[in-house]
Amino acid sequence: MSDIKSVGVLGGGLMGSGIAQVAAATGHETLVREVSPEIIARVRGGIEQSLAKLVEKGKLGAADRDAAFERLRYTTVTADLRSCDIIVEAVTEDLAIKNALWKELDALCGPATIFASNTSSLTIAAMAAVTARADRFVGLHFFNPVPLMPLVEVVRTARTSDQTVARASAFARSLGKEAVTTQDHSGFIVNRLLVPYLLDAIRAVEQGLASVPDIDKAMRLGCGHPMGPLTLLDFVGLDTTHKIAEIMFAEYREPRFAPPPLLKRMVLAGMYGKKSGRGFYDYSANPPVVSNLELSPTH
Ligand code: 3HC
Repeated sequence: MSDIKSVGVLGGGLMGSGIAQVAAATGHETLVREVSPEIIARVRGGIEQSLAKLVEKGKLGAADRDAAFERLRYTTVTADLRSCDIIVEAVTEDLAIKNALWKELDALCGPATIFASNTSSLTIAAMAAVTARADRFVGLHFFNPVPLMPLVEVVRTARTSDQTVARASAFARSLGKEAVTTQDHSGFIVNRLLVPYLLDAIRAVEQGLASVPDIDKAMRLGCGHPMGPLTLLDFVGLDTTHKIAEIMFAEYREPRFAPPPLLKRMVLAGMYGKKSGRGFYDYSANPPVVSNLELSPTH
């Protein structure tokens, strides 16, 4: 049983809005902090669409959708999150930005409030260190799309208390998710294994091993993956993956985490994947078509 009733979410991007939606849909009073009313309007619209899809698919009743909406509030003032039982941070993968928020909230929140970061690749210890509540600081790493993916990684540092791990795990279960516990090593379990695989798929494209759709098809049909690696990269975001790879490479200094040049070139060209309309595939067409990467005659 989780004792957490109210949830603060920092950041309403792909992950933050999914976390807020799931928290509200599972009965938690949820407050999302974003930086401007315009972005808040976009976040609200995205959550509305996602909830509508779940209703359409029979996964959520109309009354439950309305109740979830009622439990969702938005603010541009970080301090408004001060009385939440847990604060889940899902802002951009920039330690300085994250730590400025944690410092501010640490001074305002009561002692029982748990701080949880959804970071994909930074270490939790690097954030806990700027607060006076390292024993109440965990990682809660969700997966995209949050409303559909059943896993949460609960990350403990050397200083996270057993009680905090238990409360955070119970909270994850109260969201309808399965929890696994992991140590605080960059990438945790999933990204430690997934990121080198995704980067290798980009290297395969660079080397002209096969076409983009054939690499995807091979992993879908040959290994039973729901999405091929290049589709998944477009889905997660090439900009996000590039940042994660940079952080993991800086941490481990192992070539398997080094972002391939093609990834960097695509990010520089604004090809972030689905969210920008173009990545390995061009989403302006329906169904999407392969993007011209101007690499070799096979593309
Ligand atoms: N809310 C509601 N519905 C959503 C949604 C959301 N946020 N996102 C997608 N959907 C809907 C789509 O709209 C689509 O609906 P449609 O069929 O009516 O168009 C539906 O989900 C997709 O349905 P499909 O039939 O194509 O596929 P499934 O329902 O069988 O599965 C999936 C979809 C769960 C996304 C599956 O393809 C999958 O598991 N893909 C792999 C995802 C993955 O690996 N995620 C982890 C990424 S790594 C990560 O997040 C870590 C981070 O740190 C990088």
